[in-house]
Amino acid sequence: MGEDKEINRRNFMSLATWAIGALIGAGLGIPAIAYIVGPALQRLEAQEWIRLGSAAKVELGTPTLFKTKIERKTGWIVNEDEITVYVLTEDGRDFVAMSNICTHLGCRIRWVADSGQFFCPCHNGVFDKDGGIVSGPVPRPLDRFELKVEDGQLYILGG
Ligand code: FES
Repeated sequence: MGEDKEINRRNFMSLATWAIGALIGAGLGIPAIAYIVGPALQRLEAQEWIRLGSAAKVELGTPTLFKTKIERKTGWIVNEDEITVYVLTEDGRDFVAMSNICTHLGCRIRWVADSGQFFCPCHNGVFDKDGGIVSGPVPRPLDRFELKVEDGQLYILGG
């Protein structure tokens, strides 16, 4: 009888230790996960359609540069960032929006009409007019934005 009580007390103490450990783990783990995942979720929620300008401005078969400014809020701080995007269309109906940031180390690329390619001056990275890799140390094609045309205006999804 006394031994049964001892076993029950041991089981209880073991269970209580696990429960306290689980509570401490949850108390530390949940805020840590929220700290890591929270900003990424906020960024996703913060995405909005950004107007670039008139679709008529895009020359057929030639990447055309658009610049626009957006406001980013971080807590109480509001920053104004410039977004620069190349837009390409071959037929005036289907458009592609490409980042002007090199996928190697983030330098700004530029369109070189003579060669019909994008060139990155930092390490001689070269992309074709669709943003595909031609040469240099670039690891992947140019990043693209989701794009829509409404009432003749181009919009990209970003933020
Ligand atoms: S940053 Fe563009 S090639 Fe290195």
